[in-house]
Formats: sequence, structure tokens, C-alpha cells
Amino acid sequence: MASIPEIFSTMAYGPAPEAVAPAQAWLDRHGRRFGLFIDGTWTEPGGETFETLNPATGKPIATLTQATEADVDRAVRAARAAQSGWWEIGGHARARHLYALARHVQKHSRFFAVLESLDNGKPIRESRDIDVPLVARHLYHHAGWAQLMERELPGRVPVGVIGQIIPWNFPLLMLAWKIAPAIATGNTVVLKPAEFTSLTALRFAELCEEAGLPPGVVNIITGDGRTGSALVAHPEVDKIAFTGSTEVGRIIRTAIAGTGKKVSLELGGKSPFVVFQDADLDSVVEGVVDAIWFNQGQVCCAGSRILAQEGVADRLVAKLKVRMESLRLGDPLDKAVDMGAIVAPVQLERIEGLVRRGQEEGATMWQPSWSCPRDGWFFPPTLFTDVSPAATIAQVEIFGPVVVLMSFRTPVEAVELANNTRYGLAASVWTENINLALDIAPQLKAGTVWINCTNVFDAASGFGGYRESGFGREGGREGLREYVKWEERDRAAGRAGGRNARRKENRRAAGSATARPPVRLTALPPIDRSPKLYIGGKQVRPDSGYSLPVLDAAGERIGEVGHGNRKDIRNAVEAAHKAAGWARTTAHQRAQVLYYIAENLAARSRELGRHVPADEVELAIDRIYTWAAWTDKYDGLVHHTPYRNVTLAMPEPIGVMGIVCPDAAPLLGLVSTVSPAIAMGNTVIVVPSATAPLAAIDFYQVLDTSDLPGGVVNIVTGLVQELTPVLAAHDDVDGIWYFGRAEGAAEVERLSSGNMKRTWVSHGHEPDWSDPRQGEGEEFLEQATQVKNIWIPYGE
Ligand code: NAI
Repeated sequence: MASIPEIFSTMAYGPAPEAVAPAQAWLDRHGRRFGLFIDGTWTEPGGETFETLNPATGKPIATLTQATEADVDRAVRAARAAQSGWWEIGGHARARHLYALARHVQKHSRFFAVLESLDNGKPIRESRDIDVPLVARHLYHHAGWAQLMERELPGRVPVGVIGQIIPWNFPLLMLAWKIAPAIATGNTVVLKPAEFTSLTALRFAELCEEAGLPPGVVNIITGDGRTGSALVAHPEVDKIAFTGSTEVGRIIRTAIAGTGKKVSLELGGKSPFVVFQDADLDSVVEGVVDAIWFNQGQVCCAGSRILAQEGVADRLVAKLKVRMESLRLGDPLDKAVDMGAIVAPVQLERIEGLVRRGQEEGATMWQPSWSCPRDGWFFPPTLFTDVSPAATIAQVEIFGPVVVLMSFRTPVEAVELANNTRYGLAASVWTENINLALDIAPQLKAGTVWINCTNVFDAASGFGGYRESGFGREGGREGLREYVKWEERDRAAGRAGGRNARRKENRRAAGSATARPPVRLTALPPIDRSPKLYIGGKQVRPDSGYSLPVLDAAGERIGEVGHGNRKDIRNAVEAAHKAAGWARTTAHQRAQVLYYIAENLAARSRELGRHVPADEVELAIDRIYTWAAWTDKYDGLVHHTPYRNVTLAMPEPIGVMGIVCPDAAPLLGLVSTVSPAIAMGNTVIVVPSATAPLAAIDFYQVLDTSDLPGGVVNIVTGLVQELTPVLAAHDDVDGIWYFGRAEGAAEVERLSSGNMKRTWVSHGHEPDWSDPRQGEGEEFLEQATQVKNIWIPYGE
């Protein structure tokens, strides 16, 4: 064992192995044999089987079942049988299911990361910090789209049964990319993972059971290309979504031509990585590490062609060699390695073959001096220079840790070289000159262009290619289009048989999904509770030391609330300002908090039911889901302004807002106004309904347990006519919403002129909060934000 002084002098890393026991125990529990997941149940493993191997050792991990044509048929039928019911339960229910799946993935995140690294060979650092968090992110994001579908995609219905075929490079992540948008929009799926890497998909199938997903919504069948081919050919499959090689993509495109099936193909790439001479070369070097050595280069959008401007090409090569020498390659389950194993011998042979070809064609190869482990399948990071643009290694997707470097003189030449490929998946551009970057980006034929970064992904952004990289987008609003069709057009097409009948079912379901029950206000039962205000995340006594009685419709005293005054409002405004960091949290984080509030509201629904009707609580939960869904989807715009520039129009929060809640629907009214405001990053001071404020007291207890930072929502009970003018006249309040009497509204507008705060008042009109057209909608988002225009010039 090395002594401490030795470690200090060599600075060598010790091993940092991740515990593998939970994954091994799970495999053992299954006897290391797995069947298929069809219609919510597992088939017995058997018939034709195959082994899945550990790429780091070459040893078998488990035995899997090769699904036959009959199995494919049963899975497709199960998906068909489940589809209309799944669509019929409506967007909110589907959102809850997706949310539950996301939560389950998070609860088992470490397990998934370990199992993925074991089965695929990717470093645990990547599976733990990139793949699995993105899986959860996709499920959450699409829970939001499920919730918003009826509103945001009116007139569209699910495509039906989706056959999904995925590759081995991001097994669980590709599963999430495929399943999340499909089931969010009311489709059901039959998914086939790649034969090398099926284990996390099988564990995910178990998760579907644990999370209570209805049987048949997600079916997972294992097998090789024969199973994939049977799925493509099945007449009851309405759409195929495929990620994999261009070669198989072409076979699929041909097989389903003329069948009326929808198809999306995400295929290979040979993505350019363009480095201009003013780029920050140290950042570029780290960019190359992420571009081509991430996941051992087995990435469809890997930056596998470095195009460096002549003046810096040599310096970049020298820096890259130093960095490559320090990369660590080894056991994927070692937390300190940069690179793991290649997925399978066939892939390793392919990489080795192309590298030999590169040398034969006259390019110069460089690899670091250290050697790779002997067990398992490893390939070192490799750099080719002196490469001709027409060389095989400059044109063909190697799908391994091999990068070629070529040089260019002018930006025009850079664009020509970059586009000199049959692919068009992604590109990245490195320069300190934003004008140049934005001039080049639109000229690159690629679905995604990264400026001064690479291989960054998110569920909110579409991903997909041009040309031989395929078509269709995955992620974001545009990705949803792949999984829906226009109801009207479908009706007009009027095809006969089973599909026609299914369309009718869908239409019926669409009608019932949008109808919502009206809110009925019933008499409030008695309660006895110590009345407090909620300021800065704490329950505080009112400054006045007085309480106000709360009476029911018959004039009976049913409780008390704190009698807030001017000083309490001042304290609340101060607390709201201190919580300004809320606006800087990510939209994703804000959505998480809102979902958590909904979850806790559901948990307390019985308690709340003493003050408000049960259906109002349900509607309040539904509404919070809507705003949680919107949080990361209220995007800006790019304006087509004249001159040579793009103008980014970005919504930002108003700041500290006062909200005077409506009297009707005390809980739903409060939730409908507070949620959009905080979803967009505002912090708020809330004056609850004057006639029924007890629901607000219950609500702050929900907030208290929902990870909402203190000061984001402050609740001051009291006399509305006393508190509203204080808020409206306060110079440190940036905006105010008022849902009350017409005279009150006029006073709010008048007093607000002091600091010209934004106002939104209902002029005495009481919206029907149970009606989504009045109680939610884009106007709330517009009123909760203001637009900042950022002009970015381009061109030399
Ligand atoms: P592949 O395209 O053969 O496999 C992808 C998926 O398609 C797997 O689930 C496979 O079982 C299935 N499949 C194979 N033949 C099929 C058929 N006729 N009908 C329906 N499904 C079929 O990719 P493979 O063999 O794993 O890798 C070969 C090359 O493809 C790699 O060297 C790499 O260049 C490229 N590739 C590209 C990927 C990307 O994300 N763009 C991912 C994986 C591979």
C-alpha cells in the first residue's frame, strides 16, 4: 500500500469502487433469468434465450428471452387493449402516473446507475450524474405535457400503439426519451431494448408495476433484430420510433413505406466540432473530452470531427495529447475513471477495423502511452491528424473513442468542411466571438448546434437530425408532434375496420377528458386552532396580538385567524425580497416544488375537506399540476428583427408580488393565483379570502412540508380592506393582483401609481375558478412575467 508521502509525490488516484452488491442481489433474486413484460405480467424465461455480458470483464450477467413473433403479437394486443382506457383517464391522471414513475426512478437512482454501468460498460460517473438524472427529468417534463395536452394540443389525439426500438449506448435514457412522450400523450407502447443492454429496461418494467401503471400501457420485450423486425411488421402497430444505425433505419423506412404507419428515426452522425482561432483552447480541450470520450465515443452526436483553424491547430493538438495522457480508463464502476469499456466485441472489432483503415489511408494516429486493461473490451482515446476530408475515418461513423482533426483557413471553408457529410445530427462551434458563432450556427446543417459547449441535452429541447441522421424530433414541444395526430383529419381519412373503431373511442375519450365537475361550496365544519400568519417560512403571531373570528354562512363562529396589520405586511415584503434567489433556481426545480406541494395537498386532503369540499381540493391539486407543468415550458421567442441579429425575447418574473385572493372557492382561488406567480419565479405576499381564510391556514402547513424556500409565499390574514391599500402603496412591491370588489380594484390601481407597479384586477367580476378557461391559462403567465429583449448581432 502506498504511503501518504508517496501519494503526495505521485498524486496517483486510489481505486474508488462503487458498491455493486444491491444490483447483484437483484440479479440473484431473479435467478439471473428474465422473461418478458407483457400486459403487466412476466412470462417465464425460456424458449430461445441469450446472455447479456459485462463489457468490463466479458463475463455473463444474466440470461434473457428472445421474444418470438407470437410474443410480439401478444404485447401489441395488450398495448391495443390498454390504449383507449389510458387515453380516457385524461391528462391529469396520466401526469400523475408519469410523475410517480419519475419519483420511483429517483428513489432507485443509484441502483439504476450501477446496473447500467454493469451492463453497458459506461463509467458510473456518467450513468449516475448524466443518464439517470436525465431519465427522471424526461419523465417529469412529460408529466407536464400530459397535464397540458388537452389545452396545448387541442384537436389532437394519440397515434395509438407505438413500437419502440432502442440502441445500447444510453439504454435507460433512450427508453425514457421514447416512453415518456408516448404515454404522456395517451399512447401505449411495446419497447424493445438492445440485446446487449436490456437489464435497466427490465428493472424499469418492474418499476411500472410498483408505481401502479395500468397493465398494457408499457410492454417490454427483449430480443435481437428479429424481434425488432417483427414489431415493425406488426399490422396493429400505428407508429415506429427507432434509434440506432442508419443501416437499420433504412430497412425500417423501407419496410413500412405505404402502410400508413408513422415513423421517427434517430440515426447516426459524424458531427463537426469547429474551433476558431480566438477560442479559449483550454475550454476547447475539455470540450473535446466531452465530445468524443464521453461514453467511449459511443454517442450518436459525438463531436468526432475536429475542424481547427490553421493558426491554432498545432497548439490544440499538443494540448490534446497532454490531456489524453492524463485520462483514466478502467473499471466502469470505479468512480474516478473517465472512460469505461466498449459495449461488445463486435463493436470493438468495428472500431479497430476503422482505425486500421485510417492508418492504411495515410493518416497519423496518436494514442496515450498507458495501456488498457486486458480483461473485457477496452479501446484507448485516439487522435488522428493528417486526415484528408474524403478519408474513410473522416466520413464514416466510428462510434468509438476516435477523433479526427483537420484544419481550415476561413469561416467559409469551416462551414464547407463541417457540412461535408451525409449526416446532420449536431455540431459545436468554439469561438469567443459571439457574432461569428451566431453567423456560423445557422449555416451548419444540423438539428442541434452548441456554441462553446457540447453534448448537452434536456427534455425541453428537441433533438434529432437532418439528412441521413434521420427525421423527427425527440424532446420539447416539437417532440410531442411525433406521438399525436389530428383528430379531424383522421376522421376525414375514414379508414375502415379496427382503426376506425379505435378512432371513435378516442373521440369519446377526448370529450370526457375535458369535462370537469363544477365546484360546490358546502357549509364549513367547526375547527379550533391557534391562528398564525406565515412569513419568511415561519408561522408567526400577528403583530397586533389580536385574532379575528371566522363565521360560517349561518353566522356561527367556526374558528379564528390572525389579525394582520401594516407591520406584518412590511415584514412579509421584506421576507419576499430576501427570497429573491427563487427566481434564479431552475424552472425544473420550481416545478419539482410545485409537484411536491400538490403531493402534500393530496396527503392532507381529508383534513382540508373540513374547510372546503373534496372536489375543490381535487381541482386545486389538478391546478397545481398545470402550473408545475408550465414552469419549464413558458418559453421565450426569437424575434426576426431586421439587420444582422437575432433578438431573444425572454420572459422574466415581475419580482415581489401582492396577491389579494378571491372570496369564492377559498382554496382553489388561492392556489390558482399563487401557483402561476411562483411558477414563474416571483415571490408573493398573499391576503387570503376574507370570508373563508381557514383554507389558507391549512395551505401554509402544506407549504411548510414541501421544500418551498422560506419567504417565497407569505400569507397575511386579516381585514382585506385594511391590508390591500398597504400592499398597493408599498414601494417595494413590484406587482399586485386583486380579485375582489370593483371599488377595491379602483383603489389598487390608484395607489399603485406610486412606484408604477404592475396591476391585474378583476374589476369586481368573480371568475368561475372551476372552469379552466377562467381559472388558468396563458393570461396568468403573461401577468406573472415581463419580457426582456436581448439583441445579439452576428456576422464579421
Ligand atoms: P442497430 O441499428 O443494429 O441496433 C439498434 C436497435 O435496432 C437494436 O435494438 C437492434 O436489436 C434493433 N434492430 C436491429 N436490426 C433490426 C431490424 N432489422 N429491424 C428492427 N430492429 C432492428 O445498431 P447496432 O448493431 O447495435 O450498432 C451498429 C452501429 O450502429 C454502431 O456501430 C453505430 O455506428 C450505430 N449506432 C448508432 C446509434 C445511434 O444512436 N445513432 C446507436 C447504436 C448504434
